[in-house]
Amino acid sequence: MTPAEIAETTERLVASGAADIDAASSAEKLDEVERALLGKASPLNEIRKLMKDVAEADRPEIGKNVSAARATLEQKVADRRAALTKAARALSLVEDRLDLTIGGRGYRRGHLHPVTRIWRELEDVFVGMGYRVAEGPEVELDWYNFEALNFPPGHPARAMQDTLYVKLGEPEQVMLRTHTSPVQVRVMERQPPPIYVVALGRAFRRDTLDARHSPVFHQIECLTVDRGITLGHLLGTIEMFVHALFGPNISARFNPSYFPFTEPSAEFAMTCVFCEGEGCTVCSRTGWVELGGCGMVDPNVFRAVNIDPEEYTGFAFGFGIDRLVQLLYGVDHIKNLWDGDVRFAAQF
Ligand code: DAH
Repeated sequence: MTPAEIAETTERLVASGAADIDAASSAEKLDEVERALLGKASPLNEIRKLMKDVAEADRPEIGKNVSAARATLEQKVADRRAALTKAARALSLVEDRLDLTIGGRGYRRGHLHPVTRIWRELEDVFVGMGYRVAEGPEVELDWYNFEALNFPPGHPARAMQDTLYVKLGEPEQVMLRTHTSPVQVRVMERQPPPIYVVALGRAFRRDTLDARHSPVFHQIECLTVDRGITLGHLLGTIEMFVHALFGPNISARFNPSYFPFTEPSAEFAMTCVFCEGEGCTVCSRTGWVELGGCGMVDPNVFRAVNIDPEEYTGFAFGFGIDRLVQLLYGVDHIKNLWDGDVRFAAQF
């Protein structure tokens, strides 16, 4: 190649290189273009190699030309790189923008499960009457669940409560408590009268799940032991809490019944809260809904815990909390209460 040809080629390389640099649309593409224009295998480098074939006198001129071409392209690459970086930054400022003015989605405040709410209301009512809240274990011994409550071994009343036994110790001695009544015994063993306690908690029976029965359910138990406690105190206390929870139009009714640990024993009902006694489908047109059992503490129970039945008398009652909640909120199936489905719980 003649020096003139070399000069012309160099000029063309700069022109087409400049076009390629301008066309590079990203930093990666620009890197590629830079390698092609200025790298080892670039045409500009090849021209340098041709130098040895030109006359010595022409060499400085050509060398200067090539260096200038190189410098021009390098500068163009640097400018293009700066422009691309600036554009990318401007784009990310738009795209990654966090709009803090949009306002939140707000939050929904939860609330207590209906059974927890009634549980606490019951506690409040009884604490307000001077009662203390007591607790007992859910896994219970035969002594507390049955024997001390005057259900001797083999007593037919045991058959009223389908029991879930726990494989621990002697056979059929350890069980899931079938009611909250064993807490009565635990409290009386621990403290002398006067006793005014309520115990709320879980109870378990080998019941098949249906609309009103669940193998796991909740009860409240009340125990009062003092000198001179009469049936009148029992009736009055139940009437009191029914009024406290439901207002003056709802009252209590008692029917004779049998429980081994009370004598006399009764079942009690309250006025149907839906029809206020008129009779509706909820109360099977009777105007009343059954709540639970009650009675005067049987002297045998006092003897089991070394309380003198000649000196002290007492009353007790117990009923299902889930059942009460079902009634209050019109929950048709008990399993709805315990499915853990938030769409159900959110309705209350
Ligand atoms: N524990 C009984 C049950 O689960 C209910 C009951 C009846 C509790 C009479 C009492 C009572 O305290 O005096 O069926």
